[in-house]
Amino acid sequence: MKKNRREFLQSSLALGLTPLLGTEAFGSPSEKKDQPDKLKILILGGTGFLGPHQVSYALERGHEVSIFTRGKTIPTTHQELFSKVEKLVGDRENDLEALKNRKWDVVIDNSGRRTKWTEDSAKLLVDNAGYYMYTSSISVFYPYYGDDFSEDREVVTEIPADANENQKATYEYGVMKATSELAAIDAFGEDRSIIVRPTLIVGPGDRTDRFPYWVARIEKGGEIIIPGASDEVVQYIDVRDLAEWMIRLLENKAAGTYNGAGPGFDMSTNAFVHGVHASFNSPVKYTQIDDMSFLQENGIIGIQPWVIQLPEYAGMSRADNKKAIDTGLTFRPLSETVQATHEWWYSDAVEEERRDNILNGDRSFMKREAEILEKWRAT
Ligand SMILES: NC(=O)c1ccc[n+]([C@@H]2O[C@H](COP(=O)([O-])OP(=O)(O)OC[C@H]3O[C@@H](n4cnc5c(N)ncnc54)[C@H](OP(=O)(O)O)[C@@H]3O)[C@@H](O)[C@H]2O)c1
Repeated sequence: MKKNRREFLQSSLALGLTPLLGTEAFGSPSEKKDQPDKLKILILGGTGFLGPHQVSYALERGHEVSIFTRGKTIPTTHQELFSKVEKLVGDRENDLEALKNRKWDVVIDNSGRRTKWTEDSAKLLVDNAGYYMYTSSISVFYPYYGDDFSEDREVVTEIPADANENQKATYEYGVMKATSELAAIDAFGEDRSIIVRPTLIVGPGDRTDRFPYWVARIEKGGEIIIPGASDEVVQYIDVRDLAEWMIRLLENKAAGTYNGAGPGFDMSTNAFVHGVHASFNSPVKYTQIDDMSFLQENGIIGIQPWVIQLPEYAGMSRADNKKAIDTGLTFRPLSETVQATHEWWYSDAVEEERRDNILNGDRSFMKREAEILEKWRAT
């Protein structure tokens, strides 16, 4: 006769055997975690890069999702899931009508591009939503002097008067993110706000060419310039790891501020390059160029995800991720990120023109690489 699970456990215990079952058999917290309470989630945004992955994971976890956008951006991942999502249309600049007199358990503010946008939506939703999650950025720490970038570090809320033109643009974004964090907390209070500060986000759906560049470049093979010091630390976060952890933070009502950075160890530039190459068979030869003035003269400073080799960027890949890991942030291996990005990059979701631009566009670094290598050898 077949024994049911309870009888099996009882007889195993009676025999002094340790049942080879997970702790979930006893209704442990992990069982609770696997079956979260259903949430009504509002995403301000949702159709760009991070949003579709949040939508996908939220639906998989049994939640209900509404998105609020202008209806312009078409997702390049998980498109098929959007028929299961409520689509509210408006504009964060001047039309929040669709958000009025509605209730949600949690709000995710992905599309915050101006402090006023976050102020307005947080004030509007404060009595109709339980928690407000603001998608910030580690840019709140810019300039990145030093190496202690834990969540407690003071953030920059004003552009210094002596900032030069180049610095101003970077300051603007960081200051906007920092003051938006404060706007969210002002309205919802510390105990109902969740602030997530991602580092460079990578993976399928990326709207920048930063990471796709390296996948395409290393796949192509040949002599490849690696800018910067070989032992420089690299940080990035796979968009799926980030999205899934953010949804779990909401499920756990984990109010607080978190850096969202990976991987879970100090990855050097060289480890990163070899990690990307592990997914390809292309013959490669690497030329490391760590002469900063040469890099700068040839416009190579700023190629990501390597740290930009200027003093104010020194700590950019030093975001402390201990608190994130303690609250459930996990990391896929780099090879999975590379393969998923590669698959998406060559799918119909990405226009041929964009792929071609990386190889042949006016600003293509790949196109200039051979010439720069020649110059480098001549020095
Ligand atoms: N990429 C990175 O490496 C990185 C790093 C750190 C932090 N971040 C932050 O991560 C966040 C997530 O960005 P994402 O683009 O991936 O988010 P997303 O939620 O996937 O997409 C952005 C959304 O904003 C909507 N939107 C834009 N302007 C709007 C407006 N005026 N009114 C209403 N909706 C508007 C867009 O739809 P419509 O165009 O249809 O309106 C789109 O759905 C951003 O706050 C970004 O600053 C990104």
